[in-house]
Amino acid sequence: MKRVGIIGIGEYLPKRILTNQDLEKMVDTSDEWIATRTGIKERHIVSNGEATASMAEKAARHALEDAKIKALDIDLIIVATITPDMPFPSVASIIQHNLGARHAACFDISAACAGFVYALSIAQQFIACGTYKFALVVGAETLSAVTDWEDRNTCVLFGDGAGAAVLSEVSSGGILSAYLGCDGSRTDLLYIPAGGSRNPASKYTVETRQHYIKMQGNELFKIAVKTMTEAAEIVLKQAGLRFSDVDLIIPHQANARIILAVGKKLGIDEDKIFLNIEKHGNISSASTITALCEAVKGGRIKKGDIILLDAFGAGLVWGACVIKW
Ligand code: ACO
Repeated sequence: MKRVGIIGIGEYLPKRILTNQDLEKMVDTSDEWIATRTGIKERHIVSNGEATASMAEKAARHALEDAKIKALDIDLIIVATITPDMPFPSVASIIQHNLGARHAACFDISAACAGFVYALSIAQQFIACGTYKFALVVGAETLSAVTDWEDRNTCVLFGDGAGAAVLSEVSSGGILSAYLGCDGSRTDLLYIPAGGSRNPASKYTVETRQHYIKMQGNELFKIAVKTMTEAAEIVLKQAGLRFSDVDLIIPHQANARIILAVGKKLGIDEDKIFLNIEKHGNISSASTITALCEAVKGGRIKKGDIILLDAFGAGLVWGACVIKW
């Protein structure tokens, strides 16, 4: 099996910003409640004409530039998203055409906030086996399109954005281990009731607001802390490492209190935990990859560092990955 690593990364966040103060004018909430309960102060939201594929494409272009490879070199595109432009075709197919990556096989995956870690692990297999040389893995979401802007329980949490990574064989470091998990018995805790084959769109589903995210936040909170803690322990053990070896944890940014609780359970110093939720909110599959991009850009990661990605989301799914940068 070949050793696989990330050779380029990129992100795109829409220009438009929605602050907690803006939300105070929309629902019965306060900046103080949102900031103390979640750590979020603002989030990026798409403008007219922007959608998941357009953001995915921009992030992908940055990643290709960073990797110094051409779109024609890509053999595989996987986009992790729960907010594709439309039920089909895939966002991966749309960006393949727009990027001019016509040699690439393309598909989307649905693993909510763990989507990027899932997609990374899938792409790793294709390269490790020698099937493909270069893979483009994207996490991209337009959660503003499925957020109920009249529901204060959810509308304060989500944002839009995209991140991308190029994977290929590397001579040292790279992905040391990956672990993916799922508990399908609790799909009721976080879902969109209508718009699929069970409840196709109708006047009734629209009027009863069933096309928006429904979430039992406090239940999810406890499960997120437990599973993210366990996933981190398992994946590090698989890599033959200890927590003292980790230079930076890049967790899924759903809630700063979840992240700090996981850090505390693992006995990890807060300065080894990367947080950017304040400026982005929860961008689901785009969360861990945009956080990775910002950690690299901000000088928080240097060559040889051990990075731990750790994510949890609707499904319920979770995934963790150890990378030597
Ligand atoms: N402003 C003011 N008050 C609010 C707001 C708001 N925006 N939202 C809820 N409240 C109120 C509630 O109505 C409730 O009031 P009550 O006690 O009078 O009934 C009170 O605040 C407490 O509500 P809780 O839901 O218990 O608040 P909690 O501290 O659990 O925070 C939150 C809620 C932020 C949603 C938290 O539970 C959370 O982050 N959960 C995890 C989310 C998650 O991880 N999702 C999975 C990933 S997302 C994905 O996969 C797409």
